[in-house]
Amino acid sequence: MEYIGATGKPISFNDIPIREGIDFHFILGFAIDSDAKGTSQNGKFSTYWASTITRDSISTLKSQHPNVKVLASLSGWSMGTKVLHWYAPQNQELWISNAVSSLQTIIQTYHLDGLDIDYEKFDNSNQTFAYCIGEVISRLKNQNAISVATIAPFYNTTLPYIDLYKRYGNVIDYVNHQFYTDKVKTPNTYFQDFELRAKQFQVEKVLPSYEVNGRGIQGDAFFEAMRLIQRNGYNISGVMIFSADASMSNQYYYEQKIQDFLLNSTSTP
Ligand SMILES: *[C@@H]1O[C@H](CO)[C@@H](O)[C@H](O)[C@H]1NC(C)=O
Ligand SMILES: *[C@@H]1O[C@H](CO)[C@@H](O)[C@H](O)[C@H]1NC(C)=O
Ligand SMILES: *[C@@H]1O[C@H](CO)[C@@H](O)[C@H](O)[C@H]1NC(C)=O
Ligand SMILES: *[C@@H]1O[C@H](CO)[C@@H](O)[C@H](O)[C@H]1NC(C)=O
Repeated sequence: MEYIGATGKPISFNDIPIREGIDFHFILGFAIDSDAKGTSQNGKFSTYWASTITRDSISTLKSQHPNVKVLASLSGWSMGTKVLHWYAPQNQELWISNAVSSLQTIIQTYHLDGLDIDYEKFDNSNQTFAYCIGEVISRLKNQNAISVATIAPFYNTTLPYIDLYKRYGNVIDYVNHQFYTDKVKTPNTYFQDFELRAKQFQVEKVLPSYEVNGRGIQGDAFFEAMRLIQRNGYNISGVMIFSADASMSNQYYYEQKIQDFLLNSTSTP
């Protein structure tokens, strides 16, 4: 899976190499409970991803690659310079119903398959997060509006995400923990971090992640870390990449290499 569209760069799905025989999830950054000025809207989400990501470009992508799913990521770190945060809704039921109906519209408009949860700042409002977000995912899944839901905790947002996972883990398909925020740089420390996150959530659902030109482990050391995880008896169910926008400048080198690695790992001899 990989994030796309958050920088506003004119990115095209056509340029991104997608292998057959693998599930490829694009995560659109971002759908935000906010108007264009950055004022929260009580659960009414709007889309803020790159304008080149359209209903038509998604339909074409999915008709060319039946193995692709497209998810909207909720929130992200900031909108322009305004840092976003989870706030405690005054009326949780109203927030949930606004979120469900605004997201249904976005899902239908863009032919989406799912949601990713990427709230990154909680202040003192972490208590309401699990119920509100868990209910939104559950209700959209119950209506068959979405088939996949993922969550993206990072190093100091694990607590509210563990709470969400404990209560609603049955409707969460993957935990794409942002390992690069843990800033582990060697295969061995990456492996230890993977074991920690695998214990906090569930090992089958935790995906290692890689930030292109970013923080944390880089280059060949990442693949050594993956092999170390495998040698210790774990299956790697997938990898999250942040982000396609950053990969434009190197012809999507890591997208290709990571898909090849996963295809190699899952093929039975
Ligand atoms: C994470 O920690 C940093 C300081 O280490 C702080 O500035 C930031 O607000 C924290 N984020 C959250 C979500 O608590
Ligand atoms: C909420 O934050 C407080 C203070 O950091 C922490 O003690 C508590 O465990 C957190 N609860 C949840 C559900 O995240
Ligand atoms: C890894 O996957 C294989 C094949 O699906 C399975 O037999 C094995 O039990 C899995 N190992 C772990 C540790 O989950
Ligand atoms: C895939 O496996 C083949 C055969 O073992 C190996 O030559 C190749 O380097 C592997 N590719 C990756 C990306 O791991």
